[in-house]
Amino acid sequence: MRIRNIKNADELIYESPYLIKNPYLYIGEYKTKVFKNNNPIHLEIGMGKGNFIIDMAKNNPDINFIGVEKYSSITLRALRKLKDINLPNLKIINIDALELSKVFKKEISTIYLNFSDPWPKKRHHKRRLTSEIFLRIYDDICLENIIIQKTDNIGLFESSIVSLSTYGYKIVDISLDLWSTDKVTSETEYENKFRKQGIKINYLKAIKK
Ligand SMILES: C[S@@+](CC[C@H](N)C(=O)[O-])C[C@H]1O[C@@H](n2cnc3c(N)ncnc32)[C@H](O)[C@@H]1O
Repeated sequence: MRIRNIKNADELIYESPYLIKNPYLYIGEYKTKVFKNNNPIHLEIGMGKGNFIIDMAKNNPDINFIGVEKYSSITLRALRKLKDINLPNLKIINIDALELSKVFKKEISTIYLNFSDPWPKKRHHKRRLTSEIFLRIYDDICLENIIIQKTDNIGLFESSIVSLSTYGYKIVDISLDLWSTDKVTSETEYENKFRKQGIKINYLKAIKK
């Protein structure tokens, strides 16, 4: 994603009530202390400008959603969309996903990986959000390990299938053309752009027992 740096974004994000300012404080207690209910928590890692997670939160009031984004300028773009909207089931965190096991403990029910950076060079493959490094982190944070991935990138998609299967996930649903199915839910910014260009979207759902 092209990042247009916004001056003072690091400080400006703190003005939003949706931002969890110190996410490390609530480890293991997100349901009781942050959402104050017992609904499942779904996480989108690399939420970008937030279209998907905001729409999901609007459409599913009985699910708690948390969007994770590593760049403050991009986080701010998402937070600005939430001005004047009241969504008690949505929170945003500005951290790198590598930090997630210090933030959550066995409390996440579903992880969405939407159009994650593909990291095509072999020496960068471990940075992919479905590499073993991240799958280990997801073990720490998940109560139920359910991963839903959407991507235009076939290299990332194929390596995710291998990585997830090798690690013990079962691919329970898959499509090489999501928009030709009835599985379409909320659309991301990238998905919207690719769909309009006629690019097919790969989709999978994986569960680890
Ligand atoms: C290609 S964009 C896709 C954005 C959005 N999910 C969409 O589909 O439109 C990938 C996003 O993931 C974020 N990202 C990449 N690696 C990350 C990481 N390790 N932790 C948190 N966010 C990450 C990037 O900053 C970027 O905003």
